[in-house]
Amino acid sequence: MLPNPMLEKSMSRDVSEINDLEPDAFVDRVHSFEHWFDSVEGYLTGLDHGHRSDLAEAELTADERERLIKTLCNYTVAETAALEASSGLVRIAPNHNSKVFLSTQVVDEGRHVEVILHRLGELGVENPQERIEQDAGAGIQEFRRHLLELVDGGEWEASIFAQNVILEAMEFTVFQAHLQNADPITADLLERIVKDERRHIGFGENELGRRLQANPRLRERIASIKQDLDPMVLATFEDSLARIGVPRDQRPALGRDYLQVVARLGFE
Ligand SMILES: [Fe+2]
Ligand SMILES: [Fe+2]
Repeated sequence: MLPNPMLEKSMSRDVSEINDLEPDAFVDRVHSFEHWFDSVEGYLTGLDHGHRSDLAEAELTADERERLIKTLCNYTVAETAALEASSGLVRIAPNHNSKVFLSTQVVDEGRHVEVILHRLGELGVENPQERIEQDAGAGIQEFRRHLLELVDGGEWEASIFAQNVILEAMEFTVFQAHLQNADPITADLLERIVKDERRHIGFGENELGRRLQANPRLRERIASIKQDLDPMVLATFEDSLARIGVPRDQRPALGRDYLQVVARLGFE
């Protein structure tokens, strides 16, 4: 079960100090840069481009290296989509603490893009930009376009659903599956990225939960967005799991993990 990131223990502060706050003060606090600093310093200090510097490069066959590169091309598109969308969302966020939280997410997503591009360089890709354009899957590229249209249309709840629920849950599930059998450097990098993605899912869960409570009719709009996005999500899932090398018969189980994350947030 995915832990509730809003309740995750802060790395350097007494957790009771945060949990003792009144609900509004709690939300202000977990959306703050102060909370963000406390959270990331435990897993982001002393690294070399997002991974531990003392890890040796594993011996990869040409085929394994190629599949890893293609997988990372998909990840870069997903992370770039999150970077572009979260920065656009700062403008349309309805209140200050959402703007502040999203600005921490912009920093997280920018870092994710940077470390994955650097990993492509470590794997011998000379021109990552060209490689991504050539090798990224159609599903994730379509998802990126669709997400940015929602943001450009000023649709706050629909965009938060597409980004902080769907995209994040998809990344969470795929990265978790990948890091089980990835080389040590890629696994270390993904593990640190997943910690950030949990925080982003937490924001989506909290924000949409409160909005739906205030306006139950929103559920209809969210359901129709989900219907639009489902084919892109399924295509991305199938493509990414195939690139990681997850056997065909194990892919439905991971698809169910993803659906469970989304269902846990109240969306079937
Ligand atoms: Fe990310
Ligand atoms: Fe994220």
